[in-house]
Amino acid sequence: MKKFVVGNFKMNTTPSEFNVYLDEFLPRIKDCKANIMFCLPATHFCVAKSRLEATNIKFLAQNISSEEKGAFTGEISNVMVKDCGAYGTLIGHSELRKRLKETPESINQKIIRALAVNLKVILCIGETKYERSTKKTKLVLKRQLDTALKGLYENELKNIIIAYEPVWAIGTGKTPTAKEIENTVCDIRSIIAENFTVRSSEKINILYGGSITESNFGQFVKIKGINGLLVGGAKKKKKSFANICK
Ligand code: 13P
Repeated sequence: MKKFVVGNFKMNTTPSEFNVYLDEFLPRIKDCKANIMFCLPATHFCVAKSRLEATNIKFLAQNISSEEKGAFTGEISNVMVKDCGAYGTLIGHSELRKRLKETPESINQKIIRALAVNLKVILCIGETKYERSTKKTKLVLKRQLDTALKGLYENELKNIIIAYEPVWAIGTGKTPTAKEIENTVCDIRSIIAENFTVRSSEKINILYGGSITESNFGQFVKIKGINGLLVGGAKKKKKSFANICK
């Protein structure tokens, strides 16, 4: 099974800079077998659609609105993202949970909206430093997953990838050990099994994200139960990101 390598651009690069990024990045990953995806600002969709069409790289939004349409200035809807050619959307990134006070209920609404127009979802979950230090990781992940996946049918899970991103590991240079990630992924699968079935818990794809670099990514891809990586900072360097993909 091909591994996923997802690069989250966050609020970095202009569309013109992204164009130049692709000039250098695309030749480097020509024969790469990984399932590569970019999570992009909406301003980059036009460039992405024309430049990535002939490649195997898919692009996703970093967020969508929980509303269908109407007076929601600054927001972007599921159909808008779909119409631009996006393959899917990230939902529930901790930076949005924190800065924009995203709630578990709005995350659930966004997932339902994404699936309604055939957008794939990368659902981000993860515990804070405090939650980890008070041994609440499993409880927190359970709460996040129970609410986010509420009301979904089991067959919809094939359109969802879960990204385990401990909040304290994002952009800090700190990561859990491989054993800790393996145990947490096991917990995530058991929560999915409780909500759906064991079969669906075994099939769902789970990524790890948080302070992945060109020098440490090898230990994460090897972890049992991990199907790929969600990379932030390291994808700024085209060469590093291309090497991780390869
Ligand atoms: P870093 O790789 O910079 O820690 O970011 C991870 C992330 O937030 C990806 O969504």
